[in-house]
Amino acid sequence: MNSNYSRANLKLFDRFSSDYDESFKLNPLGVLSRSRLLRYAKKQIGNNPKRILDIGCGTGEDALELLRLGHMVDCLDFSVGMMSITKQKIIKAGFQRVNFIVSDLNSMNYVPDNKYDCIYSNGVINFLDDIDKLPAYFCKILKPGGLVFLTCLNKLCVREMMYYLVRLKPLKMLRRFQNKGISYQKGYNDIDCKLRYYDVSDFVQTIESKFEIIDIQPICVLLPLSYQRYYSLLTKYYIITDRVELSKYLPSIFRYFGESFIIYMKMK
Ligand SMILES: C[S@@+](CC[C@H](N)C(=O)[O-])C[C@H]1O[C@@H](n2cnc3c(N)ncnc32)[C@H](O)[C@@H]1O
Repeated sequence: MNSNYSRANLKLFDRFSSDYDESFKLNPLGVLSRSRLLRYAKKQIGNNPKRILDIGCGTGEDALELLRLGHMVDCLDFSVGMMSITKQKIIKAGFQRVNFIVSDLNSMNYVPDNKYDCIYSNGVINFLDDIDKLPAYFCKILKPGGLVFLTCLNKLCVREMMYYLVRLKPLKMLRRFQNKGISYQKGYNDIDCKLRYYDVSDFVQTIESKFEIIDIQPICVLLPLSYQRYYSLLTKYYIITDRVELSKYLPSIFRYFGESFIIYMKMK
């Protein structure tokens, strides 16, 4: 484990793993992002069983859902804490042929014998050192023509910029633009979390030599930022209004300005 980001983030996610499911419910953006990506991927993948790798599986909720639909899912995460919760849930649910891979995505050293039809990854890639080598790595573990579904936190988040603008905090408005990424403390005073934001063009530039981009959809373009005390109301509100934000209703320029975005791509 020699990467900067991995060292900081592994400590956080290991410590966080036992509270993850409970605190996830208090995070409307997390709930929305998961439901959007799952809904989206399910529709595109269809009903024929596929071999899927859930990268950064966390506590296994998405993997379980995909398994229940009849897909063959393997789970990868660098946190032993997260993985042991995933393993318990999946075994308890009666699924036996799942590989639980504890591996750091920054090291990119997990290469399966049997390649995957799809990669699925919700809320993970912003925690990597960078994404430059990701397309080549994805090609190593996917079958030709393999599909990738992921979410990425966006650098150009208009709703956050507006939030800080009206509070007269211009520096905060640009916090997502720091080249070295940002560190923040997530409830534990002694642990820093490191992450880096990408905008849609950064992302497209990095992957387009190896992947055809089929679709990019924004998540949370116009919705208000979440406040923990209203989380349950906001979560319901997000899920309902989210339907209005699907790309067929919004002009395509909006896909650049969400809180995060879904990217759906196919190996060339
Ligand atoms: C925000 S959580 C998302 C978990 C899950 N996908 C979900 O939707 O709830 C990020 C996950 O990515 C994992 N992760 C972060 N950096 C990683 C890395 N370099 N290699 C492997 N897993 C990583 C963390 O351990 C954590 O489980």
